[in-house]
Amino acid sequence: MGRAEDGRLLLLEAPLALFPGEVIEANVIWKARHGEGRVTRWVTRDPRRTEAACAVADLCGGCELWEAGRHGPELKRQMVADLLRRQLGEDQPWTWHPAPDEARRHRIQLHWDGASLGYFRRHSHALVPITTCPAAADPLSNAIPRLLEGIRGQALTTRPGRWELSTGSPADQVWATDERSRTWTLEPDGWHRATQPIRHRLGEAVLCHEPGAFFQVSPPWAAEAFGSLLRDWKVQGSTLFDLYGGVGLFSVLLGDRFQHRVLVESGTAAVAWARRNLEAAGLPAECLVADVAEWVPEGLGQPEDVILLDPPRAGLEPALCDRLATAGVGTLVLVGCDGAAFCRDVKRLSSAWRLEQLAVLDLFPLTSHVECVALLTRIP
Ligand SMILES: C[S@@+](CC[C@H](N)C(=O)[O-])C[C@H]1O[C@@H](n2cnc3c(N)ncnc32)[C@H](O)[C@@H]1O
Repeated sequence: MGRAEDGRLLLLEAPLALFPGEVIEANVIWKARHGEGRVTRWVTRDPRRTEAACAVADLCGGCELWEAGRHGPELKRQMVADLLRRQLGEDQPWTWHPAPDEARRHRIQLHWDGASLGYFRRHSHALVPITTCPAAADPLSNAIPRLLEGIRGQALTTRPGRWELSTGSPADQVWATDERSRTWTLEPDGWHRATQPIRHRLGEAVLCHEPGAFFQVSPPWAAEAFGSLLRDWKVQGSTLFDLYGGVGLFSVLLGDRFQHRVLVESGTAAVAWARRNLEAAGLPAECLVADVAEWVPEGLGQPEDVILLDPPRAGLEPALCDRLATAGVGTLVLVGCDGAAFCRDVKRLSSAWRLEQLAVLDLFPLTSHVECVALLTRIP
């Protein structure tokens, strides 16, 4: 973040990290109240920059912080501090939870263009061919050449398109899912059509989901980070409304700290898995396929209940925020993976809900993305 001479805010994006104080050239598009720029050249470089430990770091659109090296987490904390100061004011306390070194992606999206397999180049649909990915869990990285082999050898779909490689927890078996959701698993003798779901053992619980469906990118670290935060914040009560609930991660993490659970999610397959996952965990729940914004009624819940919302990046719809202002529960937990949308929603909710706790989890190491979590209580 910078400022123009006339005081306008300038939001800058840079491949490979940007340290405060570096002098750069950028292409900037000025809007009425702010500018958005992409760094094109460094005039001075911070001495803390290190050589990227990824051969395609300067081209690939997947990670932005390779050259920050071990300073990456601190740099990211400063970016988040800028955002929160700007959006929620100077005095808003928050806690920062950096990722452990071993956190790796358990899900990566590759593209096959008929000749090469790789990631998309930054801001482009051109391919950066890759044979390995140091941000991914080892079994996924090792499976990249096997995927290419499978496509070229016609054991897999050969049509150009998107591929997702994913693994469970612990990361061992690898699934490859094509754009039409057809899935194969990697065995020692090659790829075989998959029939089994992906399984994640997270502490005591096991969560299954279909290959290609949404799940946390670094599941063991996400489960540890969310689990300890919700425990420290003493999130508990009578009924948990797990909204945008996916296959039941938060219901499972909160376990028997609630007597009843209602999970609402728009994906039919995810809801079917949520039902099975929660039943297997001994946590019976009402699991509903619905659009959260349409489902949430006026006056939802009682003071001893909790509504937990984990929407997609765009955050909450304004009409849903209005409805939540009438909710009968005593506590809201809001989770958001887009910091700006998350802050906007906290502000929209602030007529009825007081922000009590705010935490930022580095669930997406090497990128500028974070997961924000807020605990809000009803203003009497
Ligand atoms: C960020 S994910 C969170 C999933 C889950 N809480 C987890 O951590 O595994 C958001 C979820 O909301 C679902 N979703 C998206 N739009 C929705 C809507 N309008 N109503 C209900 N669910 C929705 C997606 O299918 C996805 O599973």
